[in-house]
Amino acid sequence: MKRVLVWDVPTRLFHWLFAASFVAAWLTSESDRWLSVHTFFGYLMLGLACFRLAWGVAGGHYARFGSFLYSPMAGLAYLRQVLSGGGARYLGHNPAGSQSVYLLLALGLTVCLTGLFTQGGEEQHGALAGVVSIAAGRIIKEGHEVTATLMLLLVFGHLAGVALESWLHKENLPRSMVTGMKDAPKDAPASEPYRLAGAAMLAAVAAFGVWWFFYALHQPIEKRLGFGQDTPHVAFVGAKLPDNALWRDECGSCHLAFHPNLLPIRSWQRIMAEQEKHFGTDLALDETTGKALLDFLVSNAAENSNREAAVKISGSIKPGDTPSRITETPYWVKKHGEITGAEWRSPKVKSKVNCAACHLDAEAGTFEDAAMHIPR
Ligand code: HEC
Ligand code: HEC
Repeated sequence: MKRVLVWDVPTRLFHWLFAASFVAAWLTSESDRWLSVHTFFGYLMLGLACFRLAWGVAGGHYARFGSFLYSPMAGLAYLRQVLSGGGARYLGHNPAGSQSVYLLLALGLTVCLTGLFTQGGEEQHGALAGVVSIAAGRIIKEGHEVTATLMLLLVFGHLAGVALESWLHKENLPRSMVTGMKDAPKDAPASEPYRLAGAAMLAAVAAFGVWWFFYALHQPIEKRLGFGQDTPHVAFVGAKLPDNALWRDECGSCHLAFHPNLLPIRSWQRIMAEQEKHFGTDLALDETTGKALLDFLVSNAAENSNREAAVKISGSIKPGDTPSRITETPYWVKKHGEITGAEWRSPKVKSKVNCAACHLDAEAGTFEDAAMHIPR
């Protein structure tokens, strides 16, 4: 017997970074507050999985797919042998382990891709912003959650397999994934360490992290650490909403110019028809101005928008109702139900209509989760 290098440096780095990214993404998946961290690890996992596919062709002896091409049947047969106390020892991946490598890679890629589509659809955000509709995004999100759960189960299976193998062959497999070394028969081939490729990989991951947290999420460090949030913690990515100077001018002089996507067509028609008694004031708009405003409001109303807020607000209104207030729509009421009386009365808020006090992107009309903060 001799000690040989089985796992080259990039393979070991891949293994631990991939595992850590999955755990981190899992832990940050529940709250929108951590969405930017969650997506960071998603992109990292995607990059790592692509790297592993390439390394499976170009990497060290034991990392190459060619060295562990076993069929699922061979994997099952091996599993049966192991469970009955037998099963040969493999230096590289054994037939069952190889199946979990393939499955984890396939699931990892699926989780990342469905995540990208979820974000691009449901939030109209990220690299695939607007590529699919909100409705499609929501369906894809189910797939994202299911595949992530399957992956978690597979990770547990993998851990059980590693524990069983370690016990069966009296060797510490997790440690060899750290050191790369294993005891091997005299004639067993050794892998190159590929230290340079490993260093390049670490540098790429570090550069991506620095770029993401210090550039893409451009925000002063104290804000990022959670002392208040005066800027959105994720820059808005996606198509800008339609704008119009006349509308900003006429409808933005007394209050925020409420973006047309926040109410359905019939509401804007009602508001413009009642412009002479607009919440106690007379807007006194002449006919041409009124018509031009109505045109802009109607053509960009909720029905004609694919924004999350537009779809959810108009979806919440009963077909027979024509609210003249956004703040009376069921979705708005539900979303703001947990804000306390003291928070509403805060001098920085004062009124429900003062959307911009809590939504840093209210002017743009996007109402992103990431741009929301309650002033204290
Ligand atoms: C002369 C001042 C003034 C102008 C100009 C004005 N509004 Fe208003 N608007 C008000 C007042 C006052 C309220 C009630 C605010 C409150 O409840 O605190 C209001 C409320 C609203 C609301 C309901 C907000 C809610 O509670 O969800 C909408 C929608 C609205 N305005 C649309 C418009 C549109 C569209 C225009 C342009 C055609 C416009 N406003 C121009 C004074 C104005
Ligand atoms: C006192 C602060 C405050 C004010 C004022 C306020 N909001 Fe909000 N808004 C919130 C909070 C907090 C949430 C997040 C609720 C949640 O998701 O748990 C929210 C959520 C929303 C959402 C849902 C966003 C999403 O993607 O789920 C929309 C749309 C929205 N607000 C629109 C408005 C509009 C329009 C106004 C003004 C008419 C307004 N808000 C005024 C605090 C405020």
